[in-house]
Amino acid sequence: MSHKLSQLGDISVEQFLSEYWQQKPLLIRQALPGFETPLSPDEMAGLSLEEEIESRIVLESHQDKPWQLLKGPFEETLYQELPDRNWTLLLQALDLYIPELKDLREKFQFLPDWRLDDVMASFAVDGGSVGPHYDHYDVFLLQGYGKRHWQIGQSCNEDSAQLAGTPLNILQEFQCLESHVLEPGDILYLPPKVAHWGIAQGDCITYSVGFRAPSQAQLVEEHFQSLAESFSEFQRYQDPSIKTRAHSHELLSEDIKRVQDILLERLKSSPEEIAQWFGRMLSETKYCNEAGLAEPPCELPEYLIKASETRCLFFRKQDGSAELFVNGEQLHCPVQVAIDICEQDTLVCQDVIRQFEKDEAGLSFIQQLISLTAYFEDQDDY
Ligand code: SIN
Ligand code: CO
Repeated sequence: MSHKLSQLGDISVEQFLSEYWQQKPLLIRQALPGFETPLSPDEMAGLSLEEEIESRIVLESHQDKPWQLLKGPFEETLYQELPDRNWTLLLQALDLYIPELKDLREKFQFLPDWRLDDVMASFAVDGGSVGPHYDHYDVFLLQGYGKRHWQIGQSCNEDSAQLAGTPLNILQEFQCLESHVLEPGDILYLPPKVAHWGIAQGDCITYSVGFRAPSQAQLVEEHFQSLAESFSEFQRYQDPSIKTRAHSHELLSEDIKRVQDILLERLKSSPEEIAQWFGRMLSETKYCNEAGLAEPPCELPEYLIKASETRCLFFRKQDGSAELFVNGEQLHCPVQVAIDICEQDTLVCQDVIRQFEKDEAGLSFIQQLISLTAYFEDQDDY
């Protein structure tokens, strides 16, 4: 069940979307009143020792280096060697592992789920920060524990100069236009490319609900790759109307025009054709299950549980059925099945099968969900 927010402090999500989203920063005092951090600093340090968790430490002014970036997994002993001030531990995609952070992610489902990337947690000691920078993505910064002083700066672009010789993207110039001290439950929303700088006041934990936006280069690449796969060797450049020319080595604009016509003709894709590759692309998992494809069980289980890393979304087709995209693959099913898969964490297999016209189709659909490691049998049953 989704527990999405309908209000952000005093304003409705509708007002937020029309006036702030992708436009300007918003400070929301007590957006989540009484919020208590689900993770302590020690638990975060413990998670940073784990192989499957993407972790980084940013150190400022340490051992004569202005900024340093360390990549995890870390050794426990490292924490005894770190200074008392000016460092930050960042842990990525914790919504996959911490149920309370999965719930936090769901609060933002007033936006399309496919735009949400992950929930990152950062723990900083006094003075710790990742420096003045901008991101390419929207972010909601929730103060989880302690206090952080956020400064909001100028809007940046490709020409905004970065500090040379550091492994981090740090702005050379930062003009503070606004500043706020955030306390637990407060949220700061920042649109892409707005400079910001958050400095811990004593120990603090911040949760970042980060968004993603595919680059236009990636969209064009994926679209043409998918188009290219649909052609046969027989579809080729043709020039039945060719005329004699003065210079055989000259590429004439009429040659180019024939190529241009092919490209323009091929770009006339329907929304359904675009949805095919776009849905598959969006449902690819970043933190893939190393086990790969799973063997479907011999006997159909009563119910199945969704794996936490499963990414799914669906597209409603004109014929009233749905194209469901799961972990980079595409399955055809009734719309209600697609909705259930996307919104429920547990599936009753017979309820799913019943919604298909033929039982065999339902059965094969369930088997595909299992082999894609999107769902698994609850082993506690046995
Ligand atoms: C942090 O939480 O320390 C950094 C988050 C950000 O600035 O994007
Ligand atoms: Co940032």
